[in-house]
Amino acid sequence: MSLTAKVASPLALVSLEECLEGRRSRRDFCREPLDEDVLYWLCWAGQGITDREGLRTAPSAGGIHPLELYVVAPSSVFHYDTRGDRLEVVMRGDRRPALCTAAFSQDIVGLSAATIVIAAVEGRMDPRYGARARRYELIEAGHVAQNMLLAATALGLCAAPVGALDDVAVRDVLELPEAYLPLYLVAAGRSTPSR
Ligand SMILES: Cc1cc2nc3c(=O)[nH]c(=O)nc-3n(C[C@H](O)[C@H](O)[C@H](O)COP(=O)(O)O)c2cc1C
Repeated sequence: MSLTAKVASPLALVSLEECLEGRRSRRDFCREPLDEDVLYWLCWAGQGITDREGLRTAPSAGGIHPLELYVVAPSSVFHYDTRGDRLEVVMRGDRRPALCTAAFSQDIVGLSAATIVIAAVEGRMDPRYGARARRYELIEAGHVAQNMLLAATALGLCAAPVGALDDVAVRDVLELPEAYLPLYLVAAGRSTPSR
């Protein structure tokens, strides 16, 4: 998506102050699927490229960007292709039940319409930062998650971060290579309609 197209962003309709005030970890999801463009905007908020040098919505030590985003949705698992600024299907089928198991069977993951997995690619930062790379990956996952949580608020979604997960089990669910380590999840969905 071009920078011009971003003018029509649904994220532009709500002030930053409203998003900061309104952000809450909410778990009262319904399973109604989220449209792909909603999932796209969440990922763009987390990792979208916002300048010609390739820098992004979230800061990264040395501008290295060690993180990748995967969206586990009912029909498919998507990867956010940052350079192409699009979601690409990497697996077909509903991996949400398996992801829920890998997150210690937390309802928040089981009941979400979609959960975004933030994974670090180990090795990207190591040449420059050595052992400190692990710390930076964790800090950066927090930046990315907060961006997505604020975007979810702007989009009127329920969302919450999830840190309790079996990293290796999540990696297996997504069939990621060994160098990829899932760090943090953001579960999202529309709120349950009030009766
Ligand atoms: C690092 C971290 C890990 C978390 N892990 C989980 C989790 O595994 N499951 C969950 O339901 N909520 C999780 N949360 C959400 C917290 O429970 C929530 O942020 C806290 O209750 C404060 O509420 P608030 O986010 O609405 O301000 C996590 C939050 C953080 C920052």
